[in-house]
Amino acid sequence: MRKPFLCGNWKMNTNRAGAVALAAATAKTAGRIQAVEVGVCPPACYLEAVLAAAKGTALVVGGQNMHTDVGGAFTGEIAGPMLKDLGCTYVILGHSERRHVFGETDEFISKKVHAAFQFGLRPILCVGEKLEERQARETEAVVRRHVTRGFAGLSKEQAGQVVIAYEPVWAIGTGLTATPQQAQEVHAFIRAMLALLYDAALAQQVRIQYGGSVKPDNTRDLLAQPDIDGALVGGASLKADGFATIIAEGAKGKGL
Ligand code: 13P
Repeated sequence: MRKPFLCGNWKMNTNRAGAVALAAATAKTAGRIQAVEVGVCPPACYLEAVLAAAKGTALVVGGQNMHTDVGGAFTGEIAGPMLKDLGCTYVILGHSERRHVFGETDEFISKKVHAAFQFGLRPILCVGEKLEERQARETEAVVRRHVTRGFAGLSKEQAGQVVIAYEPVWAIGTGLTATPQQAQEVHAFIRAMLALLYDAALAQQVRIQYGGSVKPDNTRDLLAQPDIDGALVGGASLKADGFATIIAEGAKGKGL
């Protein structure tokens, strides 16, 4: 069985004291509910403090982004070896805010996926359609492109290590959540694609998170879907109590 993975993406929020307190509280929850994997992705400047709070606990930590290069003249960027050096396990790649606000292309994101493996990090690869794309019935075409390009050139062993986050852009930060059925449909589509790109066993191995206005009161129904293996949670991961409830509800949704 795929171990459910609930991960907070703090985006550009909180401060040092808030980050440490939130990490410590979330680490306690992770220790209490070990049937699911619990992670947080803080702003890069708080990674070290959060990693110190997570040390020796079940909480895993990831970066929110990274550059393709090992280092060099890239003002403002952070390199994979730096994330690894700090102790990160994961790195979010291809988030819709990176794609649509900062103009990252499928090609650039693919290079980052390869760089993540090169430097010993596990990618959380975000995919998902914009509202106008859903309305134009292009959801599958967009998700197919994001997945195909995101997995391009990966060995089966590497592919099995990728976590996919299906995040419909119209559901991010809007309070509009995809219904469990809408999300399940796309998750099943992604799993079928992985079976075509690799094989059925690999498709069953890869964890696919849902992201987009995940809240304490909708987590259980989302996670109850057979192909929803967790959640990537933005705003609602910034409150320790609410995120603890999300983690508990996620476990219940999976019958754990
Ligand atoms: P919200 O949970 O705030 O909608 O954000 C989702 C997201 O983008 C997680 O990566």
